[in-house]
Amino acid sequence: MMNIAVFVSGGGTNLQALIDAERRGEIKNGKITLVLASNENAYALERAKKAGIETAVVNKKNYPSKEEYDKAVLDVLDGKSIDLIVLAGFLTILGEDLIKQYRNRIINIHPSLIPLFCGDGFYGKRVHTAVLESGVKVTGATTHFVNEITDGGAIILQKAVPVEEGDNEDILQYRVMRQAEWEILPKAVSLFCEGRIKIVGNKTEII
Ligand code: GAR
Repeated sequence: MMNIAVFVSGGGTNLQALIDAERRGEIKNGKITLVLASNENAYALERAKKAGIETAVVNKKNYPSKEEYDKAVLDVLDGKSIDLIVLAGFLTILGEDLIKQYRNRIINIHPSLIPLFCGDGFYGKRVHTAVLESGVKVTGATTHFVNEITDGGAIILQKAVPVEEGDNEDILQYRVMRQAEWEILPKAVSLFCEGRIKIVGNKTEII
């Protein structure tokens, strides 16, 4: 059984989707054993506590550099035998040390069809604002491995979602979450835990 740490910063609806999927037996060979938040006010922490999952908070404000923040996160993970880190709305960019130590073992969910509307500065509702401004008719969500390039790691699963007339950021964000994120994140996590994701260069094959 693989131990999963879920990193969060906000509401935690993706964390909830993972908890619910685990309860339904849909995270095969995986168990969420830790939820780490980047701030103490993240509602995601309440969801974790309700589900009886251990929590930790490592607040960026308390660490002057990325390296020190990374070290504090690694200290929390130390000894917990974490096999997979899932960034579920974690809005802090991880440093190189952590990425190196967990190479090909960190999965992120991003609320657009990468390589569109991603990279530095594209997070949360900002992504949907940019989508609406661009006039595209289709958007979606992407799960991918994390490497040193923001939103640049190998793509695991993607799902398209229509942009509809009259959408605003809130409506579109909710549709992308409901139709795509809450489905493909638990699926990607399960595939990882089952050992079914083969990484070939900067691409993946589902086996
Ligand atoms: C989600 O839409 C997630 O895709 C996005 O933040 C939201 C968090 O919601 N992540 C990013 O934008 C990362 N670049 P949640 O806390 O309710 O899961």
